[in-house]
Amino acid sequence: MQQRKITFIGAGNMAHAIIAGLISAGYPVNKITVCSPTSKNRDQLLKKYGIHGKSDNADASKHADVIMLAVKPQIMETVCQSLKKQANFANKPVLTIAAEIPVKRYQKYLPTNISLVRVMPNTPSLVDQGVSGLYAMDSVSENDKTFATELMASIGKVFLLANEAAINDIIAVTGSSPAYFFLFMELMQQEAERLSFDSKTARELVLYTTQGSAALAATKSDLSFVTLREQVTSKGGTTAIKP
Ligand SMILES: NC(=O)c1ccc[n+]([C@@H]2O[C@H](COP(=O)([O-])OP(=O)(O)OC[C@H]3O[C@@H](n4cnc5c(N)ncnc54)[C@H](OP(=O)(O)O)[C@@H]3O)[C@@H](O)[C@H]2O)c1
Repeated sequence: MQQRKITFIGAGNMAHAIIAGLISAGYPVNKITVCSPTSKNRDQLLKKYGIHGKSDNADASKHADVIMLAVKPQIMETVCQSLKKQANFANKPVLTIAAEIPVKRYQKYLPTNISLVRVMPNTPSLVDQGVSGLYAMDSVSENDKTFATELMASIGKVFLLANEAAINDIIAVTGSSPAYFFLFMELMQQEAERLSFDSKTARELVLYTTQGSAALAATKSDLSFVTLREQVTSKGGTTAIKP
């Protein structure tokens, strides 16, 4: 992977996940800077990984080769205003993980000639098992696109999206869906407790069954989800709903 100087704007959960993934993939710590207004999250990252830290966005971005925007969408405009102060975005791709904000808004917030890549990871990225969608503007060079793809690959699988609209689709399919899986697991645990299991055992039963089911589906990749379901649901058996 190319080793460029990368500055993370924002030191929260997602920045932490990506930084951790990069470092465990062997990225040099002295090429990573993280910037946030308050010190708590930032200091935690500095202490844990030995990366650089800053509190001023413009200062943190001035000498970066790549900027990663990892702040909440509500403050993106303010953050971009602060970055604009350092002005030079030539040959400096900007990656953003914020949901909701389309490329055309960044072109208003930042110089119009920015090379912008939108990436959309999900929370399993926190344990390097994420899925990220990646959309790059046409103006982004192949080299920059490869860098962005390799960077996100340090925390899981990356899917290249052909158009920006697909970012919203990936949010539905992989960004939000961990919540649906957790809801299913929550309800399964409740039901297991209602049957006869204590809370800890019920959680473990659901967790290991979920892990095992996903591993089985991954191993038997030639079988559809329908077939895998049908293999458990023999006609007239205990899993099938009896007429
Ligand atoms: N969580 C997800 O599932 C998920 C998935 C995909 C994408 N995303 C996107 O990822 C982005 C970050 O989410 P998160 O969960 O990591 O948020 P988070 O944990 O709340 O972290 C946000 C970070 O932004 C920093 N910040 C606030 N104001 C700032 C400013 N003016 N300049 C620079 N940094 C500033 C905060 O600084 P302090 O540490 O000083 O408070 C904090 O470190 C969001 O846009 C979200 O849409 C999240």
